Amino acid sequence: MQLVPSRSAAPLSSLALFLLLCCHMTSTLSQKSGSALAVVENTEGEVEVTDVGDEGDFEVVQPTEEWQTLKPGQAVPAGSHVRLNLQTGQREVRLGEEQLKYLDQEHRETEETSISPEELKRVMKKIKEDIKPESAEHQDSVASRFRPMEELKREMDELDLLVQTDDQIMRRLLEQFNSSSSTTEQRLSILLELEYLVHQVDNAQNLCSMGGLQLVVETLNSSDFRLQESSAFVLGSAVSSNPEVQVKAMEGGALQTLLTMLATDQPLWVKKKVLFAVASLLRNFPFAQRHFLSRGGLQVLSELFRGDRGGVLRTRIVTMLYDMISEKELISQAGLDPGLHASHQELLRQYSLVSLREGLLEEGWCSLIPELLDSTEHDFREKALRAMLALAPVCVDQYRSHSSLKASLLLLREQYQDMIQSQMILGEENEYFEEMMDLINALHVKLR
Ligand SMILES: *[C@@H]1O[C@H](CO)[C@@H](O)[C@H](O)[C@H]1NC(C)=O
Ligand SMILES: *[C@@H]1O[C@H](CO)[C@@H](O)[C@H](O)[C@H]1NC(C)=O
Repeated sequence: MQLVPSRSAAPLSSLALFLLLCCHMTSTLSQKSGSALAVVENTEGEVEVTDVGDEGDFEVVQPTEEWQTLKPGQAVPAGSHVRLNLQTGQREVRLGEEQLKYLDQEHRETEETSISPEELKRVMKKIKEDIKPESAEHQDSVASRFRPMEELKREMDELDLLVQTDDQIMRRLLEQFNSSSSTTEQRLSILLELEYLVHQVDNAQNLCSMGGLQLVVETLNSSDFRLQESSAFVLGSAVSSNPEVQVKAMEGGALQTLLTMLATDQPLWVKKKVLFAVASLLRNFPFAQRHFLSRGGLQVLSELFRGDRGGVLRTRIVTMLYDMISEKELISQAGLDPGLHASHQELLRQYSLVSLREGLLEEGWCSLIPELLDSTEHDFREKALRAMLALAPVCVDQYRSHSSLKASLLLLREQYQDMIQSQMILGEENEYFEEMMDLINALHVKLR
């Protein structure tokens, strides 16, 4: 694919840069007379170029030497040049001329600098989406006739090389973020873009090596709540399922800062994201879990739980604790396998240092988690039941001496029984309620 400027006589600066969709399909389409490409509007209101086979119901435009704008529903004969006008967003057609593809180097260079890479990337993405065949079936049936389209796509992929890589984008974003002239609004939107980028494992790791993770961790300490929230969001996404970044975040002091944020006066919506970051940082990372425990993380969470009357954070907290308990359990169970790898033995050793259940017992979680059963949300109750079952080995005495736990369980059981028996609910819901019944019964057995 080449970037080809228009050859009109207008001054260069005012020229649009045109991407020529050189649909020189003559060679393969010529056997099939009447083959045409059409610009059609799909159900999302987007415009796409599609092969309409024999011209069908489409109005066929006869191209001339001059560019004409293509309207949705119009088709062009095979061999025509179709291009996207970047200034108007319209597709245009003219007679196909081989020499149009090859213009002198000088013009091309001037033109290439006149468009921003972002714009180019946006347009390329649009074009690529446009030429995607609607279905695999369709793809098969037209595979042979469509080969030029495949070539076109490959050429577009090559063009992508001209477009900024994620690394370059991140570098630019970090520079802007770090610049003293950036406003809070600009920083917030930069964090949003970073959050999107760091979902890719490589990007998150590159963010670390560029010094960006440290910048994000430092921003947690900002005096602006919105910056605190957004930086916690970026951090949480960057460490998710990314051990290398988890380690870097621990080294950068992220855990301590996050815990301080949870323990101090902050709006709920900030704490929500901070909790997300903590949960992601601890996930499958016994080293961080151990530090979380030794720095009073469970106490911080229990105060948060007690203070969260609205229940926004409660489920998240219990879910996180449940995940940690079951994660450790899973590793230990796998540990019974004699043919185990040495690295797993090491993992086992690390988890053995995480005294989670004991900590939970100490911080009063045996009586805190049952409070979640009073919720009206099935999902909250489910999380509570699962966590209580997982904690039963250390909590069973407290469960038994709990003043109302047994009564609550009986009441819940009755409710779910009623719902299962009522004819109002559908099969899938029924299954879920039956699962709830199983959890309640299992817990009930433990209380005997
Ligand atoms: C941010 O700016 C400071 C000083 O202005 C510099 O030392 C630091 O390396 C910069 N960080 C990044 C990630 O660009
Ligand atoms: C955030 O501020 C606290 C207290 O001022 C400080 O101890 C901590 O190191 C800071 N964290 C970061 C990552 O800068």
